[in-house]
Amino acid sequence: MLFLTPVLVAVLCVVIVWIFKNADRSTERKKEEPRVRAEVHPWVDEDLKDSTDLHQAEEDTDKWQESEEEVEHISFSHTRYPEKEMVTRSQEFYELLNKRRSVRFISNEQIPMEVIDNVIKTAGTAPSGAHTEPWTFVVVKDPDVKHKIREIIEEEEEINYMKRMGQRWVMDLKKLRTNWIKEYLDTAPVLILIFKQVHGFSATGKKKVHYYNEISVSIACGILLAALQNVGLVTVTTTPLNCGPRLRVFLDRPSHEKLLMLLPVGYPSKEATVPDLKRKPLDQILVTV
Ligand SMILES: Cc1cc2nc3c(=O)[nH]c(=O)nc-3n(C[C@H](O)[C@H](O)[C@H](O)COP(=O)(O)O)c2cc1C
Repeated sequence: MLFLTPVLVAVLCVVIVWIFKNADRSTERKKEEPRVRAEVHPWVDEDLKDSTDLHQAEEDTDKWQESEEEVEHISFSHTRYPEKEMVTRSQEFYELLNKRRSVRFISNEQIPMEVIDNVIKTAGTAPSGAHTEPWTFVVVKDPDVKHKIREIIEEEEEINYMKRMGQRWVMDLKKLRTNWIKEYLDTAPVLILIFKQVHGFSATGKKKVHYYNEISVSIACGILLAALQNVGLVTVTTTPLNCGPRLRVFLDRPSHEKLLMLLPVGYPSKEATVPDLKRKPLDQILVTV
């Protein structure tokens, strides 16, 4: 018995040391996680994360808006075209959109603002999860504001190209001849910054869940691109990496709005060039079952 006591104490000591060491390791692992994630997914901007957090919404039900009251259902009004006309319209629409290109050389010539209102109204016709319309379009015309946006983006983009994106991504972009200098942010008469609202607010100030907000806003952006093409304006789809929070604060937008896309809009400059890219033919993108 007398011999057993020191052995028991020694075993206890080993167990305690082992428990402490493991606890240390797990906190170190936890500290390391965000860095590892950032290395694997350097493009994941904090502001781009989709926070449609249904579990959270269910947990704090008192802070979230209950379902709205009934909506009246009305007859659907529909225009049906003869089949021949359907073919012609589909072909013409394809030809129009097939001419769309990302243009990075934009003239400083002014554009009619009524057109901008109309294309944004068109984007706002997009479907959205549970009809939440989780988008905000910020139109910037002021040259000083545009310039400050350019400064923020160029500062972050230089770090993106030098450090965050990595060699493969930079090499993949080589054919497009892009870099961190974005003259179009000054020259384009209009910048449209599209924010997704990760949640909304009801009239009583309670939070409203914005289901599938990123998909909904991305669809609206696609419609906006088509609407711009339809009126003969050009743009380049940009997703300024790691600029979201700074641009949001600079433009005085609330924290539940996250920058999804920035579109410089205008006429192409006379010297504008585009890479001679080819699009995949139908048989490479279509599977009929
Ligand atoms: C989600 C997304 C993000 C993009 N981000 C950028 C960007 O940050 N800068 C840029 O110059 N082009 C950007 N582009 C444009 C693509 O480079 C362009 O669409 C592609 O090269 C095909 O060319 P096209 O648009 O002329 O057909 C982006 C496009 C998409 C769809």
